[in-house]
Amino acid sequence: MKLWGGRFSKETDELVNELNASISFDQRLYREDIQGSIVHAEMLGAQGIISQEDVRAITEGLEGILADVEAGKIEFTPDNEDIHMNVEALLTARIGDAGKRLHTARSRNDQVALDFRLYVRREIGTVIGQILELEAVLCRRARECRSAVMPGYTHLQRAQPISFAQHLLAYGAMFRRDVTRLEDCRRRLNECPLGSGALAGTTYPIDRFRTAAGLGFDGPMGNSLDGVADRDYALELLSALSILMTHLSRFAEEVILWCSWEFKFVELDDAYATGSSIMPQKKNPDVAELVRGKTGRVYGDLMGLLTVMKGLPLAYNKDMQEDKEPVFDALDTAEMCLPVFAGMIDTMTILPENMRKAAGRGFINATDCADYLTKKGMPFRDAYTATGKLVAACAAQGKTLEELSLEELRAVSDLFNQDVYEALNLENCMALRGSYGGPAEAETTRQIEEIEAFIKARSQ
Ligand code: ARG
Repeated sequence: MKLWGGRFSKETDELVNELNASISFDQRLYREDIQGSIVHAEMLGAQGIISQEDVRAITEGLEGILADVEAGKIEFTPDNEDIHMNVEALLTARIGDAGKRLHTARSRNDQVALDFRLYVRREIGTVIGQILELEAVLCRRARECRSAVMPGYTHLQRAQPISFAQHLLAYGAMFRRDVTRLEDCRRRLNECPLGSGALAGTTYPIDRFRTAAGLGFDGPMGNSLDGVADRDYALELLSALSILMTHLSRFAEEVILWCSWEFKFVELDDAYATGSSIMPQKKNPDVAELVRGKTGRVYGDLMGLLTVMKGLPLAYNKDMQEDKEPVFDALDTAEMCLPVFAGMIDTMTILPENMRKAAGRGFINATDCADYLTKKGMPFRDAYTATGKLVAACAAQGKTLEELSLEELRAVSDLFNQDVYEALNLENCMALRGSYGGPAEAETTRQIEEIEAFIKARSQ
């Protein structure tokens, strides 16, 4: 008979059982379920709702189950529907009546809300740790190439000179926000739903502050309906993971471009590339492509859960059992992508000569040419037009700006002097972009140090 079989006179239809059961996926919550039950039992004991003897039996029983699950000795069964009833049934089979008292002043509704919150809280820590490892890799690689000029792009058109360090550190800035977004989510979710009961609290003299503190929460959730109905934290996590994946996906796209023959700014390590079954010459960036592709499924997880939640009346509805798989999937995906991506960046060969070559074509010092004239007294808009004329002339002759003679330059403006060639030198153009946040070496060094301090502040 089912744990809840009291008012039923028939067995559940087989297919209904299959539809209803969540044990195939919610068994992941076994640790949280057991932890929550132990703290709940201790509170029941401290409040005199169950005896200390029962508390001892429950605690020992649950610890035994935990050890057996970890040792792979337990097979959960769909007959007991979900992780909560599986654990309770195992406990009662082991310790008898005390096990049947565990569910006093509790419902599966606040139990699952608790388990899932604890799980999400823990996993956020794992993801943050992985992002910080990626950040450390970015800092190391950026340090190597602070003076190597590469073209910065807008519209995928060569635009202005930057360093490869500056480009990597842009992602470093994004990943820092991903970390703080996850930290915000974790801070906000850190209230305890246990004691909300099915939806309306309980008549027992429970101590919700005690269970909240025992489980590391800042306090209990303040409304029992909200306690069982809220899945904001799961949506926030999925949103944060979606944004994180967006960043990884953009980065992945660039790696794919960079290791193409058209760019050849980097070469992937053999351990992070794959071959073709027919084309012997191929070395493909599958890792980056998969990270880009898997971003789609994380978005799907977010959209899926948003859609599940959108029309639900308060408080608990069984629809909400559908909250777990998308969250598990998104976490698995992000946690699989992050370390592989970090490894790919860590091991790729950076090819600064090719970046420098690309920087030489495309007039990425045109702004600097206009700035030169402006600094000599020409209004910027006029300097812009004059430089545009030079660019057109160069394009017609297949020349770069710095290949024009002083005479040719002076034909457009007599403000040009010998020192223009220094102003047009790409290394100078990059090095002089020392405005706060710019690509000059002192600024990329500052950015690296900031990220390193950010990592350090989180590593005690
Ligand atoms: N397996 C359920 C879930 O994941 C647990 C809560 C069930 N509550 C209920 N009233 N049927 O949502």
